Amino acid sequence: MASGEEIRRATELLARARRPVAFTGAGVSAESGIPTFRGSGGLWENYRVEDVATPEAFERNPRLVWEFYNLRREAVFRAEPNPAHRALARLEELFPNFVLITQNVDRLHQRAGSKKVIELHGNLCEVRCTGCGRTFDKTGVRLEWPPRCAECGELLRPAVVWFGEALPLDAWRAAEEAANASDCMLVIGTSAQVYPAAGLIAMARRHGAAIVEVNLEPTAASEMAAISIYGKAAEVLPQIVEAIEWARQSGEMR
Ligand code: OAD
Repeated sequence: MASGEEIRRATELLARARRPVAFTGAGVSAESGIPTFRGSGGLWENYRVEDVATPEAFERNPRLVWEFYNLRREAVFRAEPNPAHRALARLEELFPNFVLITQNVDRLHQRAGSKKVIELHGNLCEVRCTGCGRTFDKTGVRLEWPPRCAECGELLRPAVVWFGEALPLDAWRAAEEAANASDCMLVIGTSAQVYPAAGLIAMARRHGAAIVEVNLEPTAASEMAAISIYGKAAEVLPQIVEAIEWARQSGEMR
C-alpha cells in the first residue's frame, strides 16, 4: 500500500512539472485483466518469444503467430480501461504539455480518453500488409485464417513491433523529444528491461527529469527514481491525480 507521504512527494514532483511525461508498460493494463509479459502468469511464461513474436517466427509459421495474436486481440477488445488509464487521461487535461509514451499495444489509453499517445510498439487494432505495406484498422474484427490484404491479396500481419525489428521512426523520435524535454517522468507498470524503449528513462533522467515510479516491485528503473511507489497503478495513480486536483483547487500549487 502506498503511504500518504509517498503520494504527497510524488504529487509535489509532478505538480510543479512543466513538461510531464508518462512512460507506461503492461502493468498499467493488469487491472483490466490483460496479462503482463514477465513474471509469474506473464505471457512469456507460456509462449516463447522466438515462436510467436519475431519476423522469423512469422516466416516459419504465420498461422501459429496469428493464433497467438488473435487470442490477444480478442482479450484486448473485451477488456475495459481501468482507473490507471483514466487517471492518465485526466493528467492530460490537467497539464497542457503532458505526453504519454506507451509500450502497450492494447489501445486502452486511447479508449480511456488519452489523446497525445506515442505508441512505441504498435498496436493490436491495426494490421499491415506484408506485400504493399498498407495498414488497416481491424478494431473488434475477428480475422479468419489466412487474413489477406483487400488491395493486393498478400498476407496481413499484426501492426506490432516484433523482437529484432526497429521501432516506428516517427514514434521513437517523438518519444525521445518528449523524454529529453521532460522535467518529470512517471514510469508506470514496466519492468524497464526492453530496449530501446527503456532507454527513455535514463534519457529523461540525464536531462534533469525527476523519475516517479509506480510498480508492484522494484525494477531496473528504481535506482534512477526520485521516488518509487510500490502498489497497483489503478490504485496509486487516482490518488496522485486527486491530490493534484485538490491542491490546485485549494490554491496550494499552480
Ligand atoms: P513486463 O511484463 O516486462 O513488466 C510489467 C511490469 O508491470 C512489472 O514490473 C510488474 O511488476 C508491473 N506490474 C504488474 N502489475 C502491476 C500493477 N497492477 N500495477 C503496477 N505495476 C504492475 O511488461 P513491459 O515492461 O511493458 O514488447 O514489457 C515491455 C515490452 O516487453 C512489451 O512492450 C513487449 C514485451 O515483450 C514487445 O512485444 C515488443
